[in-house]
Amino acid sequence: MPKDTVTIIDNATGKQAEFPVKRGSHGPAVIDIATLNKELGMFTLDPGFLSTASCESAITFIDGDKGILLYRGYPIDQLAEHSDFLEVCYLLYYGRLPSKKEYNHFSHMIMRHTMVHEGLRDFYHGFRRDAHPMAVMVGVVGALSAFYHDSLDIYEPRSREISAHRLIAKMPTIAAWAYRYSRGEPFPYPRNDLGYAENFLYMMFSYPTEEYRVNPVAAKAMDLISTLHAAHEQNASTSTVRLAGSSQANPFASVSAGVGALWGPAHGGANEAVIKMLEQIGDVKNIPRFLDRARDPKDNFRLMGFGHRVYKNYDPRAKIIRQAAGDVLREMKVNDPLFDIAMKLEEIALKDEYFIERKLYPNVDFYSGIIQRAIGIPTSMFTVIFTIGRTIGWISQWAEMITEKVQRIGRPRQLYIGEKTRDYVPISKR
Ligand code: CMC
Repeated sequence: MPKDTVTIIDNATGKQAEFPVKRGSHGPAVIDIATLNKELGMFTLDPGFLSTASCESAITFIDGDKGILLYRGYPIDQLAEHSDFLEVCYLLYYGRLPSKKEYNHFSHMIMRHTMVHEGLRDFYHGFRRDAHPMAVMVGVVGALSAFYHDSLDIYEPRSREISAHRLIAKMPTIAAWAYRYSRGEPFPYPRNDLGYAENFLYMMFSYPTEEYRVNPVAAKAMDLISTLHAAHEQNASTSTVRLAGSSQANPFASVSAGVGALWGPAHGGANEAVIKMLEQIGDVKNIPRFLDRARDPKDNFRLMGFGHRVYKNYDPRAKIIRQAAGDVLREMKVNDPLFDIAMKLEEIALKDEYFIERKLYPNVDFYSGIIQRAIGIPTSMFTVIFTIGRTIGWISQWAEMITEKVQRIGRPRQLYIGEKTRDYVPISKR
């Protein structure tokens, strides 16, 4: 039986060393090169982590060629159809589906933590009214660590659990208030008698002066959006949370680092960028012009909501969300011309040689904004809503990392290409 190893030979020196191959439960094997530097005095170079696994994880799995996403082994389409967001949160954090009793207890725990410290309300008033709500999120989520000192012991399981519950519970409140602040409107307190998504929409749109009833179609769609965004392997924001957490930073500080990473248009900011792009396209007849731009290597325009580092097939979340977008528009009797442009754009792009060759398919962000627009959510809040869903993924990954047997700070190396050593020249002689 051949050894499950890979031999690396340094042709310049003739030195060689053998490294173990590790195989997971799904997906490609990895070469464990942790001792490479010790054995050969070398590092690996892989900017953007094209071929590098940064950790072992049992939380989510993507088969990018087949377009499969699993949360703790369960296919995303099954969870989207049969589960709800709080059950998915339980599954991701604790590793298994809850019993009815556990689910009720968990939901009760989350809905009892939805209020934030009153002092945190004052934070909002320090921001400009026209601040992007993601800027507010980065600040306020990080500030949670200043208010919940009692749950900052990262090596205490109950403390980690309380922090996780607090983050899941308070994120909708923090997010809705970011929106209300931008409009100069009162901050509604959460209502614990409502469902998780329902309560978020209540805080987004209710006024103290009148009764507000949340549309159940909108609440169901919001719940689905959170389920689909809950976790996704070691994406940029999740890796950021892990890296920040590896320094033993507290979970609130680590998650706020993730919020910052999510904001970029190559990641969570894409849902906002998709709508801006569809508005710019404006009419189906303009699609070819934008496709020309996307294909032009000299133009930095990209088709937003298209392409993915891992998926080389249809993103399974995009399939679900496309269907849901159609259903929501129909049920809410909304006629959105951007949905027609999006569907036509998808149809044309999927037949286009450039996109076929590069295996570029719609990703989760392509249709999520269409649903949110129908619900009345402004474009600037789209990435914030991604944050609400992804919080459970971040905190589950953080907790997984903190409970690993070996705790090491994440500390990548580099290939130095700067000046060789040189002597300081006094300013008078330069
Ligand atoms: N439009 C046009 N061309 C594209 C696109 C696109 N959306 N995405 C990739 N390409 C091209 C790219 O120019 C390159 O072509 P070439 O080989 O000729 O240089 C090739 O496809 C490979 O692209 P890449 O940049 O090397 O791929 P990547 O894995 O580094 O990037 C990505 C992945 C998601 C950042 C990228 O596809 C992209 O910028 N997409 C648009 C933004 C977007 O929708 N982001 C959301 C991602 S899913 C949700 C999330 O993560 O938050």
